[in-house]
Amino acid sequence: MDEFSHLYEASDDSLPTAVYGQHTLQKIATVRYYLEAFDKACTRTKLYGGWTFVDTFAGSGLVRVRDTERFFEGSALIGLRSGASIVHAIELQESNVAALQQRANDRGIGAALRTRVGNANSIAPEIIAQIPPLTPVFVLQDPEGMELKWETVKAVATGSRGGRRRKPEQLINFNDGVLRLLWTDQPIPPGLEGALDTYFGNPAWREIVKKRASGRFEPWETIRAVVDLYKQQLRNDIGYAYVLDREIRRDHVTRGPLAYHLVFASDHDAAPGIMQDAFNKVHVGQSQFPGMPFQKRDE
Ligand SMILES: C[S@@+](CC[C@H](N)C(=O)[O-])C[C@H]1O[C@@H](n2cnc3c(N)ncnc32)[C@H](O)[C@@H]1O
Repeated sequence: MDEFSHLYEASDDSLPTAVYGQHTLQKIATVRYYLEAFDKACTRTKLYGGWTFVDTFAGSGLVRVRDTERFFEGSALIGLRSGASIVHAIELQESNVAALQQRANDRGIGAALRTRVGNANSIAPEIIAQIPPLTPVFVLQDPEGMELKWETVKAVATGSRGGRRRKPEQLINFNDGVLRLLWTDQPIPPGLEGALDTYFGNPAWREIVKKRASGRFEPWETIRAVVDLYKQQLRNDIGYAYVLDREIRRDHVTRGPLAYHLVFASDHDAAPGIMQDAFNKVHVGQSQFPGMPFQKRDE
């Protein structure tokens, strides 16, 4: 379909497929645009092994857009199409990994795929540690909730075999599951406080919650403060040179409720401009989709 020319539309193949709101396409399209440029920037590295994409919460290869019968290739297949020499895909569900492998093979793009079944928090640092230091690395961290631990983000950035000139780039889905806990004026359920500490790697989120609870922060200020705290962690705790974010809404056309923020971190001087360009292309592309907000096919 023309309006999705920058994504890969697929058909139902009866293998496991997650269903997400239309906003997921903005994330996938961002990855596609960025990796296209990343691959061009890595042309010279192809002489000595190319670049690596690590998809830490990889899914099953396809997503279906909620309330539609439309299927699109997800991040791992996008990675395989983008010129990476190796695509590491980590996924908790064995059935998703099997589906991803089959889908990659069916499309003739499975040779570069390396899959691991298990928890990204333990596997991602192991994989990063094995990647040669001169290899450029792009890491997508796309959890559904609070699964991604701060120590994993840090280990991915700093762990390496023999010292890396630049840290792997990371695109992180900072999703609204975390934000929803913080921007309401309801107290945080006691069991989740520890999980939030693990997620942020810093107790400063508690100060933000206090400001929200006492009325000193509006919901939107709370959300901004929380995302900024995460970005500050990427800069100060890990030492990334460039950190940016983009807010993604559930319904792009009417600026509906927040879905997530994409947070990007890199040490490369050219990277922020390229990612900004990817964010903007996605924005333009999405606003031109005649089908937005999505209609059911039979409507
Ligand atoms: C938002 S989806 C990823 C979608 C994918 N990026 C795509 O474009 O198709 C998150 C995935 O992470 C998996 N998952 C959840 N917890 C995990 C963990 N601790 N380690 C690895 N994968 C996990 C889920 O099974 C789910 O498939």
